[in-house]
Amino acid sequence: MERTLVLLKPDCVQRRLVGRILSRFEDKGLNIVAMKLIQITPDLARQHYAEHVSKPFYPGLESFITGAPVVALILEGLEVIQVVRDMLGATSGLKASAGTIRGDFSSSRQMNLVHASDGPEAAAREMKLYFEEHESHDHEPTLTPWLKAIDE
Ligand code: CMP
Repeated sequence: MERTLVLLKPDCVQRRLVGRILSRFEDKGLNIVAMKLIQITPDLARQHYAEHVSKPFYPGLESFITGAPVVALILEGLEVIQVVRDMLGATSGLKASAGTIRGDFSSSRQMNLVHASDGPEAAAREMKLYFEEHESHDHEPTLTPWLKAIDE
C-alpha cells in the first residue's frame, strides 16, 4: 500500500466542491487515513512549493494558496500516487481531459482545485509538512475484500 498527500485548494473549498471531490476518491476505493482543514502560511507555502519559489508565477500562487483555508488529506491505496495524479488530469484545467477532476471542474492553470504529490519522494516530504505522525490513522476498511483481490 502506498500513501499520497492531497490538498483541496482554496478554490475547491470556496466553490463548495469538497464533498464532490472527496466522493470521487472514495468512489475509487481509496482510503482516507488523515484529514484536516488548515490555513497555509506563506512560510509553509514556500516549503511546499520550494521548486517553484523562483518562478514568475510564484507570488500569485502563494497569495492564492494562502488566501483561504484548504483541506489537507492523506490517501492510501495501491499505486495511489499515480492513480490520484491520473484522476486529477493535466495541471491546467484548460488542458485536462474530460472525466478528470480538473477537466470536469476547472478552467484555470492556477485555480486547478486539487494538489497531489507527484512521486514517492514528494509524497514522503509533503505528508511530513502537513501531518504529524499521530494525525494519521491506520485502518482496514471492511469493504477491502470487495475492492481488490487478496493477492493484489
Ligand atoms: P500544483 O499541482 O499544486 O503544483 C504547482 C502549482 O502551481 C500548480 O498546481 C498550479 O496551481 C500552479 N502553476 C503551475 N504552473 C503555473 C503557471 N504557469 N502559472 C500559474 N500557476 C501555475
